[in-house]
Amino acid sequence: MIIDSHCHINDPVYLNNPKQYVDEAKASNVSIMLVVGYDLESSINAVKIAEQFDGVYAAVGIIPAEVKNTKNGDLEKIEELLKSKKVIAIGEIGLDYYWDKEEDLKYSQREYFIKQINLANKYNMPVSIHCREAYNDTLEILKKHKLKRKGIIHCYSGSPEMVKSFTELGFLLGLGGTVTFKNAFRPKEVAKIVDRTKYVLETDAPYLTPTPHRGELNHSKYLKFIRDEIASLKNISPSDVEEDTTNNFLNLFNL
Ligand code: NI
Repeated sequence: MIIDSHCHINDPVYLNNPKQYVDEAKASNVSIMLVVGYDLESSINAVKIAEQFDGVYAAVGIIPAEVKNTKNGDLEKIEELLKSKKVIAIGEIGLDYYWDKEEDLKYSQREYFIKQINLANKYNMPVSIHCREAYNDTLEILKKHKLKRKGIIHCYSGSPEMVKSFTELGFLLGLGGTVTFKNAFRPKEVAKIVDRTKYVLETDAPYLTPTPHRGELNHSKYLKFIRDEIASLKNISPSDVEEDTTNNFLNLFNL
């Protein structure tokens, strides 16, 4: 069994036919998928999709680059969505200084990140963290604003040196398509060194399609290429990777 810890069946490219997506994923041995929201609308859709299918769960939240487009009351509406039993995480939340370089935007990202950490703690939920070009500030916030249930650093793209900083805080690292990219030194090194109790698999579909399907839309059914590359980097078997990542995911979410 393989678990996709981060995908977007709620993306407009898949939204019209989630059944086909889920059927294809399940036919490829992917039995659990976490559909992650990135704004209010996509969070609502993540919940709708999760409620239709066994093994499909939702995370709800506002991604940092969308904070500037967020309206008053959006976070309250996100909180309403937590009533669904299929919502198991707050996400994706975090910091992204690649898209927002102005200081005031970075400031409101940090403010919103902390608000959503507090929301996760209020409902005793793990988080899915999006971090791009903001690893130091993310780490600082996670140290100061402790998450009771921890979570996943999705598509970890930080340095190999920082792996320990996050895993020692109790977070899992999400490893995805970038580990299969030919010249991706950092993701490959991270996959090699991360402890076997500290990583999960993800596609981030429809983005970050792994080799040999680059150029196509990503899909949970391609998770096996990521699994196989990690297995060879860690010098373990693909079924070891499945076992590690299934246990790590199920433990985090108490499923
Ligand atoms: Ni994502």
